[in-house]
Amino acid sequence: MRYGHFDDETREYVITTPHTPYPWINYLGSEQFFSLISHQAGGYSFYRDAKMRRLTRYRYNNIPADAGGRYFYVNDGGDVWTPSWLPIKADLDHFECRHGLGYTRITGERGGLSVETLFFVPMGETAEIQKVTLTNTSDQAKTVTLFSFVEFCLWNAQDDQTNYQRNLSIGEVEIENDGPYGSAIYHKTEYRERRDHYAVYAVNAHAAGFDTDRDTFVGAYNGLGEAAVPRAGVSANSVASGWYPIGSHSLEITLEPGASTSYTYVLGYVENPQDEKWAPADEAAGIEALQVINKTRAHELLSRFATNEQTDAAFEALRAYWHNLLSTYTVTSTDEKLDRMVNIWNQYQCMVTFNMSRSASFFETGIGRGMGFRDSNQDLLGFVHLIPERARERILDIAATQFPDGSAYHQYQPLTKRGNNDIGSGFNDDPLWLVLGVAAYVKETGDFAILDESVPFDNDDSLADTLFEHLTRSFNFTVDNLGPHGLPLIGRADWNDCLNLNCFSTEPGESFQTTENQAGGVAESVFIAAQFVYAGPEYAELAERRGLTEVAAKARQAVEDMRATVLRHGWDGEWFLRAYDFYGNKIGTDEKPEGKIWIEPQGFAVMAGIGTDEPADGSRSVAVRALDSVNEMLGTDHGLVLQYPAYTSYQIELGEVSTYPPGYKENGGIFCHNNPWVIIGETVVGNGARAFDYYKRITPAYREDISDVHKLEPYVYAQMIAGKQAVRHGEAKNSWLTGTAAWNFVAVSQYLLGVRPGYDGLIVDPQIGPEVPQFTVTRSARGATYEVTVTNSGTPGARGSLVVDGIPIEGNTVPYAPAGSTVTVEVTV
Ligand code: GLC
Ligand code: GLC
Repeated sequence: MRYGHFDDETREYVITTPHTPYPWINYLGSEQFFSLISHQAGGYSFYRDAKMRRLTRYRYNNIPADAGGRYFYVNDGGDVWTPSWLPIKADLDHFECRHGLGYTRITGERGGLSVETLFFVPMGETAEIQKVTLTNTSDQAKTVTLFSFVEFCLWNAQDDQTNYQRNLSIGEVEIENDGPYGSAIYHKTEYRERRDHYAVYAVNAHAAGFDTDRDTFVGAYNGLGEAAVPRAGVSANSVASGWYPIGSHSLEITLEPGASTSYTYVLGYVENPQDEKWAPADEAAGIEALQVINKTRAHELLSRFATNEQTDAAFEALRAYWHNLLSTYTVTSTDEKLDRMVNIWNQYQCMVTFNMSRSASFFETGIGRGMGFRDSNQDLLGFVHLIPERARERILDIAATQFPDGSAYHQYQPLTKRGNNDIGSGFNDDPLWLVLGVAAYVKETGDFAILDESVPFDNDDSLADTLFEHLTRSFNFTVDNLGPHGLPLIGRADWNDCLNLNCFSTEPGESFQTTENQAGGVAESVFIAAQFVYAGPEYAELAERRGLTEVAAKARQAVEDMRATVLRHGWDGEWFLRAYDFYGNKIGTDEKPEGKIWIEPQGFAVMAGIGTDEPADGSRSVAVRALDSVNEMLGTDHGLVLQYPAYTSYQIELGEVSTYPPGYKENGGIFCHNNPWVIIGETVVGNGARAFDYYKRITPAYREDISDVHKLEPYVYAQMIAGKQAVRHGEAKNSWLTGTAAWNFVAVSQYLLGVRPGYDGLIVDPQIGPEVPQFTVTRSARGATYEVTVTNSGTPGARGSLVVDGIPIEGNTVPYAPAGSTVTVEVTV
């Protein structure tokens, strides 16, 4: 069952009913100011950091789930309704929500009045724009009153929810109903003391009235769906003092039959320099010293959206921005689902994960997590082609939090860019992701100079050294922390946050990730070993190109040693082992009744080329056997489960993984993030058909028809789909913020379609099986454009032969062409 459809022409997903199984959301903003918005206008806004600079309030664990947002209430001759359906829930004659790239347009129609609300964050602005267009679709003139509504958050979203004894006395606003650009409300809580920022909510018209006190607007004991002021039909002109500040304006609107009118609302964030915080005292104007905020910057902002034409121009600029961004990589094939995921939604999600890491979604509260060291390095992989300069900046920020011994803070806060002490360090996979992030950036751009950038360790400038030195310490961290089998020590966890082999926890609520009560243990990770074999050659290559021949040779030797170690101590017979636990016992072995086989080492080992040599006797290689075991034991119609059989009881020596009921999350859920590793692995061994089959199982556009089962947005990946042992197999959770976005974009664009940047040229090596017989990829790289046309037999094991600008070449690397040129590549597989 579906709840809408894709509109590829406009690059939108069109939701045609408010009654989706869960709020389906979108993100506004891609620079400094961000909003989350559901198809019912729920959600909230923040400046840079979802925890520290929250503009509007969101209530967690609410009933219904999606309560609190930016709402427009209509009072049409006593009939009160909301075009976003929520919160009033009055029946609509027509409902439509179009989630586009950086904007959302929600339209509701009732009783001969259509109200369209367009929400977006313009490029270069720290504000959400809300353009409201009312159209009289009846044959009689209408006079209606329109009430806007936002509820302010007292900035620190954590404190906002917990510290009522203080918070309910500090709320302050200023009201400017006759402002230079219409009517405006200023939220200035805590501005009198240490804050130098405030929020403004304004409309580009003179409001008939306003409200800033929530209890007055809503009415004590009412919910938002019963709000008192819209029902009364007239604003109360309330002035907040403590309690719950809000922003609401009312407009009286008369419309002839068929007539339309539009208004622009601005929800903005404004920061003033310390010495310009206040308006100068002016006795005549009644302005006292240090009491009235300096509104100059707010007025400048409002002046840029004073007319609807200005708003429209800003919206067009946003559309053009995305159009241009998405032209870096496009595919045209016979499979429209493939095309829309690659050309639109997967890349869009990569931008969102790059910006948000795992901080703010309808599953991540925005108060729990900052930017992840491991996560952000992986998010880069799917983003770097879009805006390489921002990837560069991010790499330097991340690297600056690394410790001198090569290990890393697991997270940092985006506002301060400082490592998060509460979570600390000790996830032994972290350092190697930096190598992969940097390698991807250098391949994309050719900017080897980044390796010479001076970057602090632990944010301490006196410890600064080159970025290349950071990579050296990353690489050496693994080499210097090996266990009894010669495999890397796991520390608190590796990629799998829930495999906590040095934490034996009996305390409810104790964090598995930060409790390391069995320190000194010898638990080892086969995953990190495979990651090392995958990332190590990149490090060696970069060293070689810096003239460090010996360093490179030594690194390559360490990689070869690790490869041998994995085959010797990391192989169970039909698949790769997962780990050795605190006692040195095997994890991920056929010898145990549960947790026999885990996905992570299978995918990553094959990606790294471990065991891919084909035996002389024609039998299956180790790599192929591992992948066949994955297919047999982990495969489901909804994707590949993380491990099998799931744990049915708590295993104290394994940590959080066994705390989940079977089939959920890391305990045998379909953890979509690691499916692409197997997809890439299958392309490595020449099995494109299986790779593409796996791709389709988890890719949302292919799951649109089962939206009632899948439950979440059919346009973005979710972190997890419940596994085969789960009560609700096939049901997704944790949409949007997941490494699945970046890795699936890598899998589909670089391995299935097979166009990926190398150090010296574009590598073209499609491997997608027979279902996609013909396609064209257009790829810009380093200023040149490559038109790659593929004729594909899909024969297992077959590799493409290349004709570049009419001349056949050896191998699969198309040398980089000068900026501005167009290169034609014809590929026959
Ligand atoms: C979450 C985390 C990620 C981790 C994964 C597996 O997605 O953000 O860092 O690798 O879970 O535990
Ligand atoms: C929990 C989640 C896991 C996530 C981790 C992040 O363990 O189950 O998926 O990666 O928290 O800290």
